Amino acid sequence: METAEHEKRIAAEAAAELVEDGMSVGLGTGSTVAFFLPALAVRGLDLRCAATSPRTESLAREVGLRIERFSAVEHLDIAVDGADQVAPDGWLVKGGGGAHTREKLVAATADRFVVIVDSTKLVPALHAPVPLELLSFGLASTVRRLAALGPVERRTGRTSPDGGVICDYRGPIGDPRWLAGALRAVAGVVDHGLFPPELVAEIVVGRGSRAERMRPGGGRW
Ligand code: 5RP
Repeated sequence: METAEHEKRIAAEAAAELVEDGMSVGLGTGSTVAFFLPALAVRGLDLRCAATSPRTESLAREVGLRIERFSAVEHLDIAVDGADQVAPDGWLVKGGGGAHTREKLVAATADRFVVIVDSTKLVPALHAPVPLELLSFGLASTVRRLAALGPVERRTGRTSPDGGVICDYRGPIGDPRWLAGALRAVAGVVDHGLFPPELVAEIVVGRGSRAERMRPGGGRW
């Protein structure tokens, strides 16, 4: 197995150990989460799960996890998800799979949001692209408003699990908190892939053959 894939598995398996019997669990989306699902299922715990995408839902059902409709879920004990970039101050970029709006909602619903990544995701500072989900209604005007912040490219053939248009912001990031607010304030933007450190309880990094657990902001890379 290639190193990054091996590290994803290591991080995913370590995160599966954080889940306890009786918990409600948010399931993220992506290739790292694809390692987490069987690692969780094999523990044979009594769990109720909410999935952030149809792909995750079907993978979770295949390994025997019980999935509930998220629209009826008020609270989750824990959510586990991957990320595209993790900065030393704990800011994340997510949405490589175009599911960041759902992923942010599920993370915000959980008492504890755990991020699982291989070591290639640790970056000295966040950089473009930052995924965006836009309403298709008024799309051209939304893209025009966004152009005041920086270039935006549409991902061909990509929609979010809720039918939103997926684009990538390709301008400078600078202060992520400022950019997060500026992107969110553009009419027609459903959500962006910048996740603040206060949303994150813990980051589990697969590094070589070890899993390292760290708090957001405690990065040393
Ligand atoms: C999907 C995501 C993923 O968590 C992110 O893209 C990381 O994916 P992977 O685990 O495949 O590297 O945000 O919207």
